[in-house]
Amino acid sequence: MSRIDKLMAQMTLEEKLGQLTMTASSYAVTGPIIAGDSTDSIADGTLGNLLNMVGTGPTHEMQRLAVDKSRLGIPLLIGLDVIHGHRTLFPIPLAEMALFDPRAWELTAREAATEAAADGLAMTFNPMLDVSRDPRWGRTAEGPGEDPWLGARLAEAKVRGFQTADLARPDALAACAKHFCAYGPVMAGREYASVDISERTLHEVHLPPFEAAVAAGVASIMPAFTDLNGIPMTAHTELLGDYLRGKLGFEGVLISDYNAIGELIRHGVAADLVEAAALALNAGVDIDMMADAYRKGLPIALERGLVSMAQIDTSVRRVLRLKEQLGLFDDPYLRGSAAEAPEVVAQRRTLAREVGARAIVMLKNDGDTLPLAPGIGKLCVIGPLTDNGPEMGGCWGAAGEPDKHVSVLSGLRQGFPGTEIVHAAGTAIRDDDASGITAAVALCDGADAILLCIGEAHNMSGEAASRAYPELPGQQRALTEAVLARAQSLGIPVIAILFSGRPLVIPWLAEKADALLAAWFLGSEAGNAIADVLSGKVSPSGRTPMSWPRALGQVPIFFGQRPSGRPMNPDDFFTSKYLDVANDPLYCFGHGLSYGRFAYADLRVTPDRVSPADAIHVQVTITNSGARAAQDTVFLFTRDPVASVARPLLELRGFGKIDLAPGESGVVALSLLASDLKFLGRNLAPVFEAGDVEILVGPCADRAQLLSAVIKLR
Ligand code: NOJ
Repeated sequence: MSRIDKLMAQMTLEEKLGQLTMTASSYAVTGPIIAGDSTDSIADGTLGNLLNMVGTGPTHEMQRLAVDKSRLGIPLLIGLDVIHGHRTLFPIPLAEMALFDPRAWELTAREAATEAAADGLAMTFNPMLDVSRDPRWGRTAEGPGEDPWLGARLAEAKVRGFQTADLARPDALAACAKHFCAYGPVMAGREYASVDISERTLHEVHLPPFEAAVAAGVASIMPAFTDLNGIPMTAHTELLGDYLRGKLGFEGVLISDYNAIGELIRHGVAADLVEAAALALNAGVDIDMMADAYRKGLPIALERGLVSMAQIDTSVRRVLRLKEQLGLFDDPYLRGSAAEAPEVVAQRRTLAREVGARAIVMLKNDGDTLPLAPGIGKLCVIGPLTDNGPEMGGCWGAAGEPDKHVSVLSGLRQGFPGTEIVHAAGTAIRDDDASGITAAVALCDGADAILLCIGEAHNMSGEAASRAYPELPGQQRALTEAVLARAQSLGIPVIAILFSGRPLVIPWLAEKADALLAAWFLGSEAGNAIADVLSGKVSPSGRTPMSWPRALGQVPIFFGQRPSGRPMNPDDFFTSKYLDVANDPLYCFGHGLSYGRFAYADLRVTPDRVSPADAIHVQVTITNSGARAAQDTVFLFTRDPVASVARPLLELRGFGKIDLAPGESGVVALSLLASDLKFLGRNLAPVFEAGDVEILVGPCADRAQLLSAVIKLR
C-alpha cells in the first residue's frame, strides 16, 4: 500500500477536511492576522495548510506541531505570495516582461524560490498570468501585459524557475498559476467586477498562458475571484472540471483564492456556506483558502447529498500527493534547514540590479539627452519618488525589507560621485499639498540637467488598486509643469523617470520632457539600476509589454485588435476613429529606445510555400548606426489577411535579441512552426487554412516600422 493509501485509510472526515483547508498564520507578513484556533487545529490534525508565514523559526515550529503532535503526522504545506522576489525584490512582473527574456524570467523565479525555500516555504502563489489590456486595472502590474503568446512564454519560464524539474529539491517551490481565468477584462477595469467576454476571446486571449503553465507541469492553479459570463470561477465546473482537468489533463491542486468560496454567497450563486462549499468542491477546488467553508460546510453538504465522500477523497489525495512531491513527508524541515551564505545574497542583489536596469523602458530621448555626461557638474532631482527607498519595492513586498531598497537619490550618489546633487520632493505622492512646489522649482537654477522622479505609490497598483484616472496622482502634475516651465526658460534638459504599475496616461509629459523613462517599480536595487541607465553604464533595452494610451477613452488598447470594415482614413468621415484623439497608442507594444540606433534590412523568409508540418525560418539584418553599443529586440508577427474568421491585425509569434557595437551589423534568425498558424475556426475548433500569410519583423508593433514578406500556406 502506498503512503497515501495508508493515510487515506486512517483519516477521519475532520482530518480530511483539514487537508483541504488553508489558513493565514499568525506570523503574517501580508494581509490580516487571523490566528484563531490555528495552532490547536494543526496539532489535532484538522488544519493542513498555511499561508502568509515566513521564516525558518515559525515555519518549523508549526511543522513540528503537525508532524509530532497530530495523530497522523502529516506535514503542513506552507505558501506565500512570492511574486517578484522574496527578501530581495526584483522588478514587478509587468516591468520584468519588458526584458523579453525568458531566461531572465526563469532566473529571477529560481532566485526567489531559493530565497523563499531557505525561509521554510514550499509554495508560492505565482505566476500571475492574467492578460491585461486595461491600465485602469491595478493588477496589470502583476501580470504579463497585453499579449497571450507572451503570457504563455512567461508561464513556462516561471514554472520552470520556481519548481525546477524536481519539486522535492530543498530549493524548489510549488508554483500556482493564477487567476484562472479571464480576470483581466473586469468590467470598466474595476477590481473584482464581473467579466463578460466571448468564448473566442476566452480561448484566444485568456486561456493560452494557463495552457502553457499546465503543459510546463505547474503544481497548482488558483481560480479567479471573478465571475465569467455569470458563473463565478470558483464554481466553474465547465472550465475547472471539463476544460482544465478534462481537456488539459491537469492533475495538480486547485486552490481557491482568499475567501473566494465564501464569496460565492455574495456572487449570488449560493445561499449559504454549505452550498458554497458544495459548489466549489463539485467544480474541483481542492483547497479552501480562508473561507473555512469546507470544514464548516462539507459535513452538512455530505448529509444533504450535495457532495460525495469520493469527491472529498479525490481532493485529499491531490493535496497529499503534492506534499509528497514536495518531499515534505520525507523531510518536513528540508526547506529552511540551512541559512544562505552572505555571498549568495549579495549575488542576488547584483541580479536584481541587472534585471532592474534591463526592465527600464526609455520611451523618449530627444536630442540624445541621455546618457548624462560622465562628469556632469550639477543634477537637480525633484519629485516625491526621489529620496524614497521604501516605495521602490512595488506591489508585492513578500518578505522584502523596504528600508533596504535603494532610492534613486542614493543610486545617483553612488553612480555620479563627482556630481553636485540637489534634491527636493516638491510634493507628496498623492496628497493635495502644493506648498513645496515653489521651493523645489527654485532648485533648478544652475543645474546641468533636471531629473523628475514622479508617479504612483507602490500600492496604487496591484490588488484592489484600480484607478479611473491612471495619471500622475496628487499635485505631481502641477509640480512637473512648474519644473518644465522653469527648465525651458533656463534651457535645462528635463528627464522624467516615471514610476508606475501600469502604463499611465501622460501625453502632455511625453510631449514636453526631453527624455522619459518608464521605471515601473524595480525592487530592491531600483536606485542603482536607474543610475546605471542614466550614466550610460547600461544602454536601456526594455520594451513596453503594454500599449500606452494617449487618452483613457482609447482603452482597451492593444496591438492585436481585429480589422474594421471601415479602417481609419483621414479622407473619409465614416471610418473607425475618434473625433478627438488619434487611434494609435502614444507608445505601442514593444516600443523602447536604446543608446544605439537600429536599422532593419534584408528580410528573408524560407520556404515561401509551407505545409502544416514545416518550420518557417526568418532572418533579418540589423545595423547599429548609433555611436554606442546597445541591444536590440526584434519582434516577429504574422498577419493572416483572409480567413474564415477575421484574424487580428498582428499576432506575436516570436522575438530575438542582438547586441551590436557602433557601426556593426548582425543577423537575427527566428523561426516558427507552420502549425502555429492554426487558429480557432468558426466553431472554435482549430483549423489550418491555405492561403497567404504575411510575416512581419521589426522593433515594435507599429506596422509602419515592420518589414514584411508573404508566404503561402498549402
Ligand atoms: C488574494 C489575491 O487575489 C491572490 O493573488 C493571492 O495569492 C491571495 N490573496 C493570497 O494572498
